[in-house]
Amino acid sequence: MKVSVLGAAGGIGQALALLLKNNLPDYSTLSLYDIASVTPGVAKDLSHIPNKVKVEGFCGEDPSDAIKDSNIILISAGVARKPGMDRSDLFNINAGIIKSLTEKIAIANPNAFIGIITNPVNTTVPIAAEVLKQKGVYDSRKLFGITTLDVIRAETFVSELKGYNNKDIAVPVIGGHSGITILPLLSQVKDITFTEEEVKNLTFRIQNAGTEVVEAKAGGGSATLSMGYAAYRFTMSLIDALNGKKEVIDYAYVDTSDSDNIPFFARPVLLSVNGIESHLPLGDLSPYESDMLDNMKETLNNDIDKGVSFINSNT
Ligand SMILES: NC(=O)c1ccc[n+]([C@@H]2O[C@H](COP(=O)([O-])OP(=O)(O)OC[C@H]3O[C@@H](n4cnc5c(N)ncnc54)[C@H](O)[C@@H]3O)[C@@H](O)[C@H]2O)c1
Repeated sequence: MKVSVLGAAGGIGQALALLLKNNLPDYSTLSLYDIASVTPGVAKDLSHIPNKVKVEGFCGEDPSDAIKDSNIILISAGVARKPGMDRSDLFNINAGIIKSLTEKIAIANPNAFIGIITNPVNTTVPIAAEVLKQKGVYDSRKLFGITTLDVIRAETFVSELKGYNNKDIAVPVIGGHSGITILPLLSQVKDITFTEEEVKNLTFRIQNAGTEVVEAKAGGGSATLSMGYAAYRFTMSLIDALNGKKEVIDYAYVDTSDSDNIPFFARPVLLSVNGIESHLPLGDLSPYESDMLDNMKETLNNDIDKGVSFINSNT
């Protein structure tokens, strides 16, 4: 197994790399790339941890050597939010970074699974899809926007409120990855009931949890450690699927243009060695969740259109 992290010298990249170094299967390779010149040093630092995962570090303008032969390419390259910014404020810088990295992936390793962390995920994933389509190498089964942070936040907040162990709680989170497009399906949490007020408060908190971190860091960036953990957790699902494990199910923001009237949507998917084997049903939604789903559609479609227009006007 070879896993590449692009943006590996950043806050998320380093936390993610540490978790992967300690948890990838023996004899895997962890390949770290960033434009920052410190990256080979980050790789050297990690390489002193005693286990059987090999670590390589690359820096400079071209990620091709770092992504060659990788099974999974994770992208957290970009700029992070500061107080007062929302995820769409990151758009212009990060859109260009995702475009150029995906162009390189299309040439150096178009068969890899690609996991995008860089925000705004609602838009950066469609950008990557458009680039891969233009290059004639798009496989919608292999492109994932990583929304696991919303899932782990939902699990944590529900556990805290109801006094449960996190590990016993599963909360489906669907839609997109910003503001009102994040929709936790609290009605589907097993064995727990919520009052109407609890549902409203929890939904609001899960949707705005990123801002909690941005404000608490007071100018020092956005979520890095919890995001590193979230991306690691999602990557382990991809690794299970690539290793042929059956019934691997996870949530991600994926291409739904075949089955939905929204072209990208975070939803449960069944994973296999080929990527997304099928989209699983969303299950029954409460009237509140159905309204929230209707309310998000325009925002999500606009976010997706913005990505498609960015590529059309920058090609
Ligand atoms: N998906 C999520 O749930 C989620 C959560 C938190 C943050 N994010 C996003 O993840 C991204 C990274 O956040 P961070 O806190 O790690 O930021 P950071 O600034 O700490 O790290 C970003 C890294 O990207 C590198 N970089 C910039 N341009 C690059 C390029 N062209 N090629 C390679 N590397 C490049 C920088 O050198 C830096 O090391 C941001 O866009 C942030 O908004 C996503």
